[in-house]
Amino acid sequence: MWPKIFILTIQVVALVKTEYKYETKYFEVRLDHFGYQRSERFQIKYLVNDDYWNTQNGPIFFYTGNEGQIEVFAQHTGFMWEIAQEFNAKIVFAEHRYYGASMPFGNKSLDKEHIGYLTSSQALADYADLIDYLQDHSIKPKYPVIAFGGSYGGMLAAYFRMKYPHIVTGAIAASAPIHMYPGMAPCDAYYRIVTSSFKVEGQSCKDNIKRSWKVIRDFTTSANNTAWLKAKWNLCDPVKNATDVQDLIDFLGSMYETLAMVNYPFPSDFLVPLPAYPVRVVCQYLNESITNSTLLLERIGKVLDVFTNYDKKSKCVDYKKGSDYGNLDASGWDYQACTEMVMPMCTNGQHDMFEPNPWNFTKYSDDCHSKFGVYPQPDAARITYGGDRLAAASNIVFSNGLLDPWTAGGILNTVSESVEAVVILDGAHHLDLMPSHPSDPPTVTFARSFHKQRIHKWIRQFRSRI
Ligand SMILES: *[C@@H]1O[C@H](CO)[C@@H](O)[C@H](O)[C@H]1NC(C)=O
Ligand SMILES: *[C@@H]1O[C@H](CO)[C@@H](O)[C@H](O)[C@H]1NC(C)=O
Ligand SMILES: *[C@@H]1O[C@H](CO)[C@@H](O)[C@H](O)[C@H]1NC(C)=O
Ligand SMILES: *[C@@H]1O[C@H](CO)[C@@H](O)[C@H](O)[C@H]1NC(C)=O
Ligand SMILES: *[C@@H]1O[C@H](CO)[C@@H](O)[C@H](O)[C@H]1NC(C)=O
Ligand SMILES: *[C@@H]1O[C@H](CO)[C@@H](O)[C@H](O)[C@H]1NC(C)=O
Repeated sequence: MWPKIFILTIQVVALVKTEYKYETKYFEVRLDHFGYQRSERFQIKYLVNDDYWNTQNGPIFFYTGNEGQIEVFAQHTGFMWEIAQEFNAKIVFAEHRYYGASMPFGNKSLDKEHIGYLTSSQALADYADLIDYLQDHSIKPKYPVIAFGGSYGGMLAAYFRMKYPHIVTGAIAASAPIHMYPGMAPCDAYYRIVTSSFKVEGQSCKDNIKRSWKVIRDFTTSANNTAWLKAKWNLCDPVKNATDVQDLIDFLGSMYETLAMVNYPFPSDFLVPLPAYPVRVVCQYLNESITNSTLLLERIGKVLDVFTNYDKKSKCVDYKKGSDYGNLDASGWDYQACTEMVMPMCTNGQHDMFEPNPWNFTKYSDDCHSKFGVYPQPDAARITYGGDRLAAASNIVFSNGLLDPWTAGGILNTVSESVEAVVILDGAHHLDLMPSHPSDPPTVTFARSFHKQRIHKWIRQFRSRI
């Protein structure tokens, strides 16, 4: 059943192609920071640029890498690059253990017997050691450190400041769903936001999508129809049995999710190139109530074509490959989702445009056990990081775009004088971290200047306390 295990979609990071320069380095970390019996060490990758750095006292801008190859984040976090000069900052992007090239056991790292050291706490401890090294192991650190991150990386940036306030001066946490754990946000919030992104482009857009699930299921029961569908939708494989139908429906579901997430005001290019405001573009095909099933399928085919073949380079729609694409290693995230990062999601078909799919923790847990031999700990992240109990935290800005489904688990209200929320009315998934663009809405320009003001303030605080 869809949704399966959720990827915190990093597939998303990708946009305007700008070449940033950096040196690629490696840093040795302990396999286990929290016990003393495993003495193995391994290397994590990090990228550095010192072009703008004032080595006397310039800040270190530190991206807390999330679930993927670190180069992907370096390429797509234009905001850090754009402001580095103004701040005379050193730029560092650190890769999260068990992703990209930072594998403790090489290509066996994700095997059941080795994957156990993949946790957010271990990753933060890696980052803390790396910063200690960058500060020359000084007892009185010289350089203020600002953490940045988007999505899971944003959660890590916030957690880094919360857990290591003596190391991190402040954190910009963009689109960080730190409130997505069990019991905190309603499980249907995420898909309600996906749905509303389509609804704002026209009630009929949403209604047609909602109607399409049954049409697809009914249509694919006849063998002749599936040949038509394969041809019309340019599918790589025919839809032969119930598994195939489910795969196709899952593929479409995650297509709508992704379109909502990357509903940026400029053309973007992640796993596939997309036009500006892709939701608006696809809704043009669904802008009137379509009751003729054949016509509806033809139109959904057009939507699929925009999503999979905007650059006209794709041979066919590989609906069976699921959402495991790009440079991002979905299996590492699946394991994290099966241990501490439990984020309940559900649909009911009433308040959203999807087929009903209730949250069933027993089933989720059983699936995790058969896949990785572990049972999720739904309370672990709340106990470790506090959920939205942020009163004791400080120097964090949480930013969220209201078009982004992950806002369902975001901090949207300012908590205190130094834990502040910025809401980007017409922003998609961590738009504020992207390079600036002429089509940026004023709300994201505002968010970026807010971040800059706070970074200045945190650096002043750091200097006044030395
Ligand atoms: C795994 O790594 C080893 C040693 O680096 C190499 O010999 C082997 O071909 C790799 N296996 C796969 C499946 O990539
Ligand atoms: C399915 O297609 C075959 C071959 O084109 C044709 O002979 C048959 O009548 C069709 N069946 C239906 C139910 O349309
Ligand atoms: C459906 O067909 C695919 C091959 O197209 C096969 O791998 C799968 O096991 C089949 N599933 C069922 C439930 O028959
Ligand atoms: C839907 O879009 C088509 C093509 O862009 C346009 O001709 C038609 O008027 C639109 N219909 C509505 C109800 O907006
Ligand atoms: C339904 O749409 C198809 C495809 O556009 C068209 O060929 C067919 O005539 C339509 N059927 C009706 C009853 O309008
Ligand atoms: C949840 O999943 C379990 C295991 O697959 C199943 O036995 C149970 O009936 C499900 N509960 C509900 C409410 O669907």
